[in-house]
Amino acid sequence: MKLISKMTHGLRGEIDIPGDKSISHRSIMLSSLGNTPVEVTNFLKGADCLSTIACMRAMGVDIEEHETRILVIGRGLHGLKEPNDVLDAGNSGTTLRLLLGLLSPQKFVTTFTGDNSLRQRPMGRVITPLSMMGANIVGRNQNKNLPITIIGTRVKEQGSRLKGITYKMPVASAQVKSAIILAGLYADGMTTIVEPYPSRDHTEKMLAAFGVRIDKSSNEIRVTPASEVTAPKSIEVPGDISSAAYWIVLASILEGSNVTIKNVGINETRTGIIDVMRNMGAKIEYINERISGGERSADIHVVSSQLHGTTFGGEMIPRLIDEIPIIAVAAAFAEGDTVINDVGELRVKETDRLNAIVDEYNKIAAGAFETTEDSLIIHGSHKFNYAKSKTYDDHRMAMSLAVFGAAAEGVEIDNPDCVNISYPTFYDVIADK
Ligand code: S3P
Repeated sequence: MKLISKMTHGLRGEIDIPGDKSISHRSIMLSSLGNTPVEVTNFLKGADCLSTIACMRAMGVDIEEHETRILVIGRGLHGLKEPNDVLDAGNSGTTLRLLLGLLSPQKFVTTFTGDNSLRQRPMGRVITPLSMMGANIVGRNQNKNLPITIIGTRVKEQGSRLKGITYKMPVASAQVKSAIILAGLYADGMTTIVEPYPSRDHTEKMLAAFGVRIDKSSNEIRVTPASEVTAPKSIEVPGDISSAAYWIVLASILEGSNVTIKNVGINETRTGIIDVMRNMGAKIEYINERISGGERSADIHVVSSQLHGTTFGGEMIPRLIDEIPIIAVAAAFAEGDTVINDVGELRVKETDRLNAIVDEYNKIAAGAFETTEDSLIIHGSHKFNYAKSKTYDDHRMAMSLAVFGAAAEGVEIDNPDCVNISYPTFYDVIADK
C-alpha cells in the first residue's frame, strides 16, 4: 500500500522525464539487427524495456548496461540465435507483439510467455496478419493467448521466406503495425499496411535511420524488404510524453503550479494529450524545441488553469491511447462534462482500464465516471473524497490514481510498485515537489 497525501501547494520547478518506453524498446530491437555497435542514451530502465533486453540477450545479442546508457552489439539481420529457453515478455505487450513479427521469419523456434496480465491479452490481432504472410505461430485457445510458439519460416526449408502482403488493419495499433513492418523486412516482395488512423510511428522513423526504405502516404505504409540494415552509431531517446502526462495534468489542475518538464518527445503521433488539454483550457507551451535521434523534443512549460469539459474520439485516440486514464483525472477537475468516444481498446490494455476507471475513480469522486462499451463520460467539478483504490497492477492506473489523490483529498493505492514498468522514479517526483 502507498499513501499519497493531498498536495497543499502547486507543482513548481523542473522535472526530468525518463526515456520514452516505445523508443527504448525499438532502440534495442533494431540495434540488435545491425552489424556495428550502437550506443543508446537516456534509455528507459523500466521493467518492460528490461524484458526486451533480456529477450534479445537470450538470442545472443551482447548488450552492456551502464545506468541509462546501453551499448548494443548487433548480430546482423540474420544473426539472431535460437534461445535455449522460453522467452518471458513480462508485462510488456510491445516486447511480445514486435518480437512476434521479428521472429516469424527466423530460422529457429521460439516460445513466449508473460505475466498474468499479458497472458490474457489478445494476440490474434498480430498472429492473423503474420499468418497471412506465411508465419507459423501457435497460441493458446481461440484468442491466441500466451504461451505462444513461433516456428520460424526458415526452420523447415532453407531459404523459405514470408511473403509481402497488403493488410488493412481493423484497429489502429502501433504494436500490430510494427510487428508487420519487422516481418516485412524479411519478406519476399513489398508489404503494405493500411491503418484506420495513424498510430505512433517510431518504428518507421527509427528504421529510416537504419537505412531501411519505408514509404508513407496518408494512412498507408509500404515496407521494402532489406538484406541488411546500417545501424547509426548512437540513438538518443527523448523523454516519454506518456510519463510527462502525469505532471502536465497535475500542474494544470493544482492551483499555484508553474513547472517545466524537460526534454520530452513531441512526435505528432503522441501529442494528443497536449491538443486535448489545450482544448480544455490548459496553459501549455513548448520551449527549446529541437530534433534528437530523428524525433522532435522540447521542454514543456505548464501553469495552472481552470479547465472545461471537451468531447473527442476517432483519430485522436491513437495519439493519446495511454493517456486516457490521466486525461480522465483532468476532466474530473474541469467545469462541465467530458465525453471520450472510441476507447474500446482500453479494455485490452494491461487491465480493462474503462472498468478500472469507473470502479476506482468513483471512490474518489462518487458518480463522476460512467462508461459505455467504448466510451467514457466524466462529469466535472465533483466533490472529492479520500479513498483506498486498487491499481489492478497496472502502472498507468497507479500513476493516474496517485495524481488524482494528490490533487483531491489523498489516496491509498495497492501494488504501488507496478509503476516500475514505465516510470521507476515516479513517486520520488511527487515526494520531492
Ligand atoms: C505501444 C503502442 C500502444 C501503446 C503501448 C505502446 C508501442 O499500443 O498502448 O503502451 O510501443 O507501440 P497499441 O499499439 O496496441 O495501441
